[in-house]
Amino acid sequence: MTLEGARAAVKAAQRIAVLTGAGVSAESGIPTFRDAQTGQWARFRPEDLASPEAYHRDPDTVWTWYAGRYRDVLRAEPNEAHQLLARLEQEKGDGFLLATQNVDGLHARAGSRRLVELHGNLLSGRDEVTAEVFALPAPDKLTTPPVSPNGNRMRPNVVWFGEFLPPEALEAAAEAFAAADVALVVGTSGVVYPAAGLAFETLQRGGMVIEVNPEATELTPHLSFSVRDVASRGLAALLT
Ligand code: APR
Repeated sequence: MTLEGARAAVKAAQRIAVLTGAGVSAESGIPTFRDAQTGQWARFRPEDLASPEAYHRDPDTVWTWYAGRYRDVLRAEPNEAHQLLARLEQEKGDGFLLATQNVDGLHARAGSRRLVELHGNLLSGRDEVTAEVFALPAPDKLTTPPVSPNGNRMRPNVVWFGEFLPPEALEAAAEAFAAADVALVVGTSGVVYPAAGLAFETLQRGGMVIEVNPEATELTPHLSFSVRDVASRGLAALLT
């Protein structure tokens, strides 16, 4: 397939599903996870920071790490890639769904509404324990668990390793990818399931999956086409 062919397929598609990962927010200054030099997991093991066991074992270290994540998010602005995906949603309407693994809230700030957040959202709370941590006086200065008004120890509203994804979000994403004529996989290494498995929902039903990533990933060999570029330029080449 050529870039022209991929562009034509996106243009003609009635139903489009998109999966994004940390790479979409890299151009907003938020480090990805697995980049060997700058990645968030380059200096820590995920299971030592992003798991219920880690939180139980060493809550202060976990919260000190998340203070850094809040700092990243406080500084970040949506970039061109977020904006292009919000525009694609306007074009495709009900035939569009964006499933993100990111917890930085940047897709929503760029105007995406047909959006499911598979791994949670640092900016919001699900319940009293994950209530508006972000609304605390200085979430980026935390070094110990904040306590809710009812005295409960709070945690970030993110899905940790070993935890289930929000079922309604995963179900909506699986349905959208199964129905998609074309799926886009943007800025993800495609190594964390079930999110990474969404692309195969589309492929198995004869849909096309196009990747936008400056590097090849574990998904690349299975996909219809790869735009080997950063998200903003790669999406511009595909969508404008
Ligand atoms: N534009 C597009 N892609 C980029 C860019 C960029 N500017 N910079 C880096 N990338 C790509 C990398 O090549 C890599 O394939 O983004 C991907 C980032 O991969 P990861 O760091 O593994 O992030 P992600 O795929 O989102 O991780 C999935 O793992 O740690 C858990 O829950 C966490 O949601 C996260 C999940």
